Amino acid sequence: MSGTDKSKWVGIIGCPIRHSLSPLMHNAAFESMGLDYCYIPLEVEPRRVRSAVHALRSLGFCGFNVTLPHKRRIMAFLDRLSPEARLIGAVNTVEIRRGRLIGHNTDGRGFLRAFLEETGDSLTGKRILILGAGGAARAVAFQSAMERAAAVVIANRSSAPAAALVRDLRRPPAHGSASVLPWTEASLKAGIRQADIIINATSVGMKPDDPPLLPDGGLRPHHVVCDLIYKPSETTLLNQARASGAKAINGLGMLVHQGALAFEIWTGQRPPISVMREALRRGLLRRELREQEIDNFEAIK
Ligand SMILES: NC(=O)c1ccc[n+]([C@@H]2O[C@H](COP(=O)([O-])OP(=O)(O)OC[C@H]3O[C@@H](n4cnc5c(N)ncnc54)[C@H](OP(=O)(O)O)[C@@H]3O)[C@@H](O)[C@H]2O)c1
Repeated sequence: MSGTDKSKWVGIIGCPIRHSLSPLMHNAAFESMGLDYCYIPLEVEPRRVRSAVHALRSLGFCGFNVTLPHKRRIMAFLDRLSPEARLIGAVNTVEIRRGRLIGHNTDGRGFLRAFLEETGDSLTGKRILILGAGGAARAVAFQSAMERAAAVVIANRSSAPAAALVRDLRRPPAHGSASVLPWTEASLKAGIRQADIIINATSVGMKPDDPPLLPDGGLRPHHVVCDLIYKPSETTLLNQARASGAKAINGLGMLVHQGALAFEIWTGQRPPISVMREALRRGLLRRELREQEIDNFEAIK
């Protein structure tokens, strides 16, 4: 990646941002299409979001991605929100057009595209159990409702965000059949029995010592289990799903497609999905190898 005075600039703001694989994925796509764009990671502390947004506009950026912890806070500094971003209540992509800042959220549609690609099936008419009620859960839940899922059931450790999400899902334009499932072993078992698709939208599973999210023994071969986590690529939940004969899908496809949708917003062109996926796969592999080296070094110290 090397920008010139002719390059168009995009990037990602977050804190921390070192872990982000988005620069790899986007720069690989720009390069393969011969587009003179440059995508850079920008670490922005929460108290500096407003000034960072103004700086990016003044510097002539075409847009940028937004990651944790700024996805909600950024909304206050934008000129306009897409209907999706307003519904979800979070922004992951900003478009800068003629000096105006437009907030989008591509997570829900990114999930949908990945689901269609990996299952060949839609969300329409399905009973969907979503674990979590944070930003990613909200995006996937609204997308499910818009796709006319038969039921969207939300189970979350804290009850208030789950209740708020269900309230929002029942309102127009979502109009979904939505309910809260208590975060107890018995309820989760019953919820799994009644679901076609189970989606983990919590952060549980990212660390190797995270406890299993679901009680053992409930999953069946007809289930489709999606974990929005992409690192590690095989979480305990996905292992449980495979062991039960269920279809298991990790979050890599969603990461690729939410990025591809942002790319389309900035450039007006469709990016090469295979190039983006391959760049991510290599980036994840390199990171795993580096972590293994660190573990080995710690072990012999
Ligand atoms: N593949 C992709 O492209 C993609 C995109 C976005 C996000 N994600 C992934 O989705 C996950 C959630 O991200 P987010 O942006 O929605 O984060 P978030 O807004 O911070 O929400 C975190 C969710 O995890 C739950 N949680 C955290 N620790 C828990 C624990 N120990 N036990 C049970 N529940 C717990 C929280 O429940 P409480 O409300 O009780 O705290 C909340 O529902 C992350 O793993 C993220 O990497 C993937």
